[in-house]
Amino acid sequence: MAALSFELAGVDSNSKARAGVITTDHGVIQTPIFMPVGTVGSVKAVTQQQLYSEINAQIILGNTYHLYLRPGVDVLEAAGGLHHFNGWHRPILTDSGGYQVFSLAENRKITEQGVLFQSHIDGSRHLFTPESVMDIQRSIGADIIMAFDECPPYPSEYTYARKSMELTHRWLDRCFARLAETPDKYGYTQNLFPIIQGSTFPDLRRASSEYIASCNATGNAIGGLSVGEPEEMMYEYTALCCDILPADKPRYLMGVGTPWNILEGISLGVDMFDCVMPTRNGRNGMLFTTQGVVNIRNKKWATDFSVIDPSLDCETSRYYTKAYLRHLFVANEILALQIASIHNLAFYLWLVKEARLRILAGDFDSWKKNIIPVLKQRL
Ligand code: GUN
Repeated sequence: MAALSFELAGVDSNSKARAGVITTDHGVIQTPIFMPVGTVGSVKAVTQQQLYSEINAQIILGNTYHLYLRPGVDVLEAAGGLHHFNGWHRPILTDSGGYQVFSLAENRKITEQGVLFQSHIDGSRHLFTPESVMDIQRSIGADIIMAFDECPPYPSEYTYARKSMELTHRWLDRCFARLAETPDKYGYTQNLFPIIQGSTFPDLRRASSEYIASCNATGNAIGGLSVGEPEEMMYEYTALCCDILPADKPRYLMGVGTPWNILEGISLGVDMFDCVMPTRNGRNGMLFTTQGVVNIRNKKWATDFSVIDPSLDCETSRYYTKAYLRHLFVANEILALQIASIHNLAFYLWLVKEARLRILAGDFDSWKKNIIPVLKQRL
């Protein structure tokens, strides 16, 4: 089948925002897009049916680190890949484990070869190398697979950040080499996206962006941001990277972010986003709505019988009331987590869809400036 392709459908005249269409062997993705995170092959508290019909997710994420530990590559291969295993037949992207191994695993040891680590589940020892991570991602079978990288913490020393970036580049060469040696397992094309690193040093970010751009991949990612640096700094480095990356390939800003982070990222030329925030914060009772942020556990919602968000095209958001959802949270009911997760994801998908329409209509920049203060309001 065919490698991923990207077509620009429109560019905003007052910002660098773009609207586009990504085509994969599992279908098309209209950009800018938000990708719900399904770490272990499941978007927490949300069924695939709800992702299809209520949220209208176009692509979801999985994590190599988690899927390798559980259920393991043998089960995934026996199923015929993750799409068949979890019943999600639209595009999937897998992160490489190059982030999770640093944030979750214990006793990590980084060498030129790769990363030795202990599982956060049972303490068992494992080695991830660029080659093994490509092989695992072949077995999982995502449409977009990410390079094995090191994401340095913030803040990092310059010397550490430079050595880490250089290692990430050498690992990237090994990822491409391994992928070229191994055929697609399931009859469709898997696309490797390289990842820019370089921490918060302009010369490193520039060098990394140029190296990644020179790889001529079907899409490119910006990593190492949203790791605790100030927001303004995140925007500054996102802009720097976007301006060097090729305009005719999708750009993916990893792990970002709040609704306003996403709108700012879009205005800088980013096309793809993922973040655990809508689901994780949703499970803690934080709702993102078209009117602002709601802490649904707050007593003030106890007798508010208005629906969660009537302006979303999502049955759940338009059906359940704030008072009822608050009651479910206070009573520790599982349904609370389901409703909040579905609603927040529907909101994030609404946000990027609306951004796309505004880009195509030519008023994205003024719409963005007007809506950000509304979305930030604490209700
Ligand atoms: N998710 C968020 N940031 C990163 C990153 O820098 N690298 C990888 N692999 N995943 C991420």
